Amino acid sequence: VRTIGVLTSGGDAPGMNAAIRSVVRTGLYYGFKVLGIRKGFNGLINGDIEELTARSVGDIIHRGGTILQTARSPQFKTEEGLKKAMSMAKVFGIDALVVIGGDGSYRGARDISKLGLNVIGIPGTIDNDIGCTDYTIGFDTAMNTVQDAIDKIRDTAYSHERCSVLEVMGRHAGYIAVNVSISGGAEAVVLPEKPFDMDTDVIKPIIEGRNRGKKHYLVIVAEGGEGKAIEIAKEITEKTGIEARATILGHIQRGGSPTVYDRVMASQMGAKAVEVLMENKRNRVIVFKDNQIGDMDLEEALQVKKTISEDLIQLSKILAL
Ligand code: F6P
Repeated sequence: VRTIGVLTSGGDAPGMNAAIRSVVRTGLYYGFKVLGIRKGFNGLINGDIEELTARSVGDIIHRGGTILQTARSPQFKTEEGLKKAMSMAKVFGIDALVVIGGDGSYRGARDISKLGLNVIGIPGTIDNDIGCTDYTIGFDTAMNTVQDAIDKIRDTAYSHERCSVLEVMGRHAGYIAVNVSISGGAEAVVLPEKPFDMDTDVIKPIIEGRNRGKKHYLVIVAEGGEGKAIEIAKEITEKTGIEARATILGHIQRGGSPTVYDRVMASQMGAKAVEVLMENKRNRVIVFKDNQIGDMDLEEALQVKKTISEDLIQLSKILAL
């Protein structure tokens, strides 16, 4: 492998720039040429590609988003799109493609690997929902952004003795939700992974909390869960008499300067992707398992399912007392 192409795909995540920078600089260190592909797989189809130098990735480690931009590419899901991308990879002499993104992007990577292109995946999504890895780039920053919002909301909720119902991202997973329910001291958390009963899981802990003297309340709702924040807030007001307000944090959770943890993790994962290519490995994904950065087969990685920690869910309930 002499020429590496790098792209970001799917939803952006803080720390993607640190990963791009690391792929480029580690690549150059080991004597590779590195090409940046813009707008995800679409850029590969359209030849929206340029060479990256050590300088072109300067001054980006602290920036959220992705300098390469990103997209979810429907065209890449077609055979024609895949073929176009493959022939463009040949035109630009790309021997290996580093894909930074979530599991949808990994599936795209797997599809083009079947046409003969060597691909290496780096997990990048705020949702932390990729089965094969304990950590995905952007998760820590997104949680800290939510926490910052919770602290602000808490000030006003306390002042008015209200209940805040906060809807957080995570797609079909509740990893952000369960963690911030602990760090933010929530009375209840509604998760996609668990069946939820409004009266026992939300109303009861709020009323019990009030009877113990609480002056404000917080309910975290994962966007992929059964209930929606606005409806839940309405029902809380109706059933408890406590004023409730819903806040949907939305895309603010995707932006912002990455935390130290995300920058270091992204830097390590980017470097590992290049090292894997140095070892002449093919079609791998970079993973964080047992506190170590490693790599595993792409096809195998796509089969691994992840489960949310029952311990964290339980702890969240206990600490809501
Ligand atoms: O996967 C990241 C994520 O932010 C999810 O948490 C959310 O469900 C989704 O992307 C939103 O997608 P879009 O930016 O296309 O609205």
